[in-house]
Amino acid sequence: MRISEDILVSAKSLLAGEKNRVANMANLSALIMDASKWHWVGFYTVDKEQDELVLNAFQGPVACTRLRRGKGVCAHSWETNTTVVVDNVHDFPGHVACSSLSNSEVVIPVRNGGEVVAVLDLDSVEYSDFSSEEVRLLEGLVKILEERW
Ligand code: SME
Repeated sequence: MRISEDILVSAKSLLAGEKNRVANMANLSALIMDASKWHWVGFYTVDKEQDELVLNAFQGPVACTRLRRGKGVCAHSWETNTTVVVDNVHDFPGHVACSSLSNSEVVIPVRNGGEVVAVLDLDSVEYSDFSSEEVRLLEGLVKILEERW
């Protein structure tokens, strides 16, 4: 386990009283990266005009700026409005490899009024590196962000 329950307490206090979305996404990315040392942690937001995802606050190596519908793990989470856990990204059809070092990934939708407005994306160099408990905690962090969206 790379993260534990106390990350929820830290996130609540870090985001307390702040409504700026980029500031909150930036601090959540840093909080998760600092605790976990996963390979890449960050957000893509929905660009409604272009109907695609665009890179937002993140921690880790440079990443793909835009992700289009119908291709990759982030787009799948966006389009299905579900958390997607991929134990081996090489087995995921259409996976977008922004980093060749990534071997497992989890993507969690960020919702506003039920509609997906962003996704939280995490990559690991290890295979199967996201336990169901960690996914639950990450979903809890997203909920804290959603409450301030
Ligand atoms: N692997 C993602 C692309 C984003 S990077 O992992 C940062 C995907 O398949 O959508």
